[in-house]
Amino acid sequence: MKRFELLANTMANEIRSGSRPAGSRMPSLRQLTTQHGVSQSTVFRAYYLLEEWGLIRARERSGYYVAPGAALEQQKTSRPSPALESAKVEITDLVFSVLEAAKHPDIVPLGSAFPSPQLFPLQRLAKSLGHASRLISPWSTVVDLPPGNEPLRRQISLRYMAMDIAQPMEEIVVTNGALEALNLCLMAVTRPGDVVAVESPGFYAALQAIERLDLRAVEIPVDPVEGIDLQALSDALDKHPIRACWFMTNFQNPTGAAMSLEKKKALVNLLAQHDVPLIEDDVYGELHHAPTYPLPAIAYDKQGLVMHCSSFSKTLAPGYRIGWVAAGRFADKVQRLKLMTTLSASIPAQAGIADYLQHGGYDKHLRKLRGSFRSQLIEMDTALHRWMPDDTHWTRPSGGYFLWVRLPPRVDAMQLHRLAIENGISIAPGPIFSARHAFRDHVRLNFGHPWSDKMENAIKTLGSLLERASE
Ligand SMILES: Cc1ncc(COP(=O)(O)O)c(C=O)c1O
Repeated sequence: MKRFELLANTMANEIRSGSRPAGSRMPSLRQLTTQHGVSQSTVFRAYYLLEEWGLIRARERSGYYVAPGAALEQQKTSRPSPALESAKVEITDLVFSVLEAAKHPDIVPLGSAFPSPQLFPLQRLAKSLGHASRLISPWSTVVDLPPGNEPLRRQISLRYMAMDIAQPMEEIVVTNGALEALNLCLMAVTRPGDVVAVESPGFYAALQAIERLDLRAVEIPVDPVEGIDLQALSDALDKHPIRACWFMTNFQNPTGAAMSLEKKKALVNLLAQHDVPLIEDDVYGELHHAPTYPLPAIAYDKQGLVMHCSSFSKTLAPGYRIGWVAAGRFADKVQRLKLMTTLSASIPAQAGIADYLQHGGYDKHLRKLRGSFRSQLIEMDTALHRWMPDDTHWTRPSGGYFLWVRLPPRVDAMQLHRLAIENGISIAPGPIFSARHAFRDHVRLNFGHPWSDKMENAIKTLGSLLERASE
């Protein structure tokens, strides 16, 4: 165990046992360095970890304080360290209750996982669907069984080729959205009780899949700008029998973080040394704001260990539920699991999207879509600067349509979520992105909807709720 982890665990125990009560001030950096004979950076990292576990909160220019309810919360979740212990996951109830509250169509969808459907070429897509459906052979029910519709897999394979990734179409399996691809990959490489490394904060569906398959999670910290902490991952690989990693390398959900190419390469090498498969969730990769697609980790994979999952749900056709995985050495297994679970993805939808990719102008549409997200990010960033209290901080991602907001001290994300819903606004509170319900001082906001007075007013309302809550 590293020094900062030891220190964090010691203080976590003090908080959990109640000897450091909620609201009490944590010792200063200087006190701890003298008391424990460690460097300032060790103390800083320990505090960062405690903050991540939801046990302490920073107050601007005042130091760290024990978070309200920290003792109680930790008794419930009871697993101290992201990279130190593996834990069973219980996230589903919390996620469903948050998603349910945000479902009403009149709610301003800042908490939504989807971009606006207005930004998709639905008419042109319908034309492709109609055209392709009329040409469907009665035999396609058999021919298009997994791995899936051949023209579609050819088009997907061509898109890899455009990135200089030689991806044989034989290893591509078409699925019902990326979510099915990710789940099948997890099933292909694990058995109940196995340990899986996930991101913290991370996409809640990964936690739900782990919960459903009776696996255990090791949470690896994610830097909101640079992505996964590779050192923490390396330590976790030494400590645990990790069977698989489920990570996002581009425009991570919820932070928007993107790993550099060097980091992706290092990640692939590290996992190859340990012979651990990477389930790479890249659903937002095509939504880069810069001119080119930042290569995914699979580009550096020489051993067939990376399973690259993506879909058309965020870029073209949310309701069609067409995704895929380039599954490397696991392709056969994934294909069989697909047959055993849902048999096949919708045949007309596969054919329709294949036709659109060939004739519909997908790249032109993507350029327009990226332009919309770029300008909506500027609008949201400006509105946040205008309306948020000074001690609110947020990321400015280089792709996708989420940003990750750190709330002012004393504001609880779950409480803010409840108040926001009462005011007709959804937000995605930090705890739904963590197996331990941490990140109670963060929320995820969606800028995937055209800017409007309604959006501006929603940010203004959030700003005043925050002002009131932090008084
Ligand atoms: C990070 C991430 N991965 C996967 C998915 C699921 O994608 P699909 O809708 O294609 O199943 C989502 C959807 O919200 C997501 O945010």
